[in-house]
Order: sequence, then structure tokens, then C-alpha cells
Amino acid sequence: MSLHGRDITSIRDLSREEIEEILASARKMIPYAEGSKVVHPLAEKIVAMAFFEPSTRTRLSFEAAVHRLGGNCLTIADAGATSLRKGESLYDTIRMLSSYADAIVIRHPNEGSARLAARASDRPVINAGDGAGQHPTQTLLDLATLHEAFGTLTGLKVVLLGDLKYGRTVHSLAYALAEFGSELILSSPRGLALPEERREELKRVGGRVSEQPDIRKAVQEADALYVTRIQKERFVDESEYREVAGSYRIDASVLASAKPRLIVMHPLPRAGEIAPEVDQTPHAAYFRQAFLAVPVRMALLASVLGSSRRGG
Ligand code: NCD
Repeated sequence: MSLHGRDITSIRDLSREEIEEILASARKMIPYAEGSKVVHPLAEKIVAMAFFEPSTRTRLSFEAAVHRLGGNCLTIADAGATSLRKGESLYDTIRMLSSYADAIVIRHPNEGSARLAARASDRPVINAGDGAGQHPTQTLLDLATLHEAFGTLTGLKVVLLGDLKYGRTVHSLAYALAEFGSELILSSPRGLALPEERREELKRVGGRVSEQPDIRKAVQEADALYVTRIQKERFVDESEYREVAGSYRIDASVLASAKPRLIVMHPLPRAGEIAPEVDQTPHAAYFRQAFLAVPVRMALLASVLGSSRRGG
């Protein structure tokens, strides 16, 4: 396989074999991500971070990945500070940016914006979240977290809890897990179920999917519990948000009947869905998950921008 020069706008852009290769390369990148070894395959490369929506982990871990690989970043961290404010189109902004950088990482509130950016750019575009659409690099690090815990991505039972309607991390992750042959147990508040077209997509790749609105029951059988935040910013109607806000919370009592090896994951930020007491339990995997963002994004950038070989 070669990911060289490729756009990554959806998890569907990557085959199972390609995902496995990225994860294998990410495992080798861990000491480089920690800074105990040094590698500079991105020396002289510039990666643009075009972030038109708030971000902490995604942007900073992408930037850390570029720096650890010896490259440089050009960063838009605030859409309000760009000429989009003057009415410039996203297409023009990206087209111009692609003449300043070797690759573009984009986050934008509109679904489909990463594909639009890929059309505008003659450099590779990586989707760091397009509205309620996709978040493929989050999925790669989610898979890395599961693989590190269980040594496989096949045959796991994974509960996806929370906002399955607007949550782009679950849209990408559900697809990948279905492709790898893991089972999905969906648990969401009323009105936030996984949309029908996403379910169809899962069926097409042979996904085994069930629903379990009762979190305690869902957790009993599970290997992993993937908790998500209600995507408040995507609600058209604030009163609809208020109806579901705070409707689920994972604490020690919910985990009391879980398998000892269950891991609790969350793309973060959390907004009350996981009680801080869970941090102290061996179930908590979300901070490890956040760290794995760096080696995973290093592996991806090294492949897309040319060389995944280490040295130097
Ligand atoms: C997620 C996102 O932006 O989709 N965050 C992230 O990238 N780690 C999840 C969220 O904001 O709830």
C-alpha cells in the first residue's frame, strides 16, 4: 500500500490492511512520540492546520506529531482571524493554503467540508472533523487504544454510548469496528440514535449491531465502553438539547458489574458523562487514548507525506 499523497477524508478511504499498517507503524512510533528517540522524516515539510472549529487535543496532537517528525506547522486556530470573515470562500482559502504547505489538516463545522477542501487542494487533505460527518484520525487512535488493550480488533463487544446522531467520532469508529468484525451495542438518549443511513452503511460491511438503552445492562457484556459528549453545538433547537442534557453518566456504580478488563474510552472533552472517580479505576483508558493521538498521527503523516521509515 502507499498512502503517499492521499487524502484521508473518511475512514472509508482506508482499507482494513491500510489501517493495520498505520497502527503497526504507530506502535513503533511510541518512543518517538514520547521524545525518548528522535526521527525527522518531515524535515523541511510544512503542514497547515486549518481549524475552523474549537479543538484542543486534535490540533495540538497533530502539531506535536509534526514537530516530533521534524516538520513545521502553519496554523489557523480561529476562523474569526481569517479572511473567511471578509467573505472568502472555504474553497479559495484552502486552494491558497495548498500552495503554502505540503499537506492540510482541516476541521470545519460543515459536513462534507473536508471533501470540498480535497477538491480545492492539490496537496493531501486530512479530515480532523467535518461537522457531524467523519473524524477518521480519531478512529485510528481509538482503534490503537483498543488494540493496545486487547491485542485485536476482531470479536470485541463495544458499547457506543451517547450522541450517536451528531457524534462524528462514533460515525467513523462504528464503520471501522464493523469492518474489523467487532460487535456494536448502541446506547443513546431519545432522539440521538444512530441515523438510518449510517446503520445501512454498517449493514453493508456485515456489522453486528444491537441496541441497549439500559447502560448497566449494556456494560455487563462489553469489552469497551466508548462514551461521547452530547454535541450541544449541533442542535438546531436549544430546548431539544436541554431535554437530553445530563441524561447519562458513568460512575463507579455503573461499572460495578462490568468485566474486570472493560476499558472506558472517550474522545474528550468530557462534559460530565464520566465521573472523575472513574479516572482512579483500571477501566479508565481515555487519557492513554489522548496520548496515542500523537504516535498515530505521526504514523499517518509520515506515510502521507512520503516516508514512514525511521532513522536519524
Ligand atoms: C471530538 C470531536 O471534535 O469530534 N473531540 C476530539 O476530536 N477529540 C469529540 C467531541 O467534541 O465531543
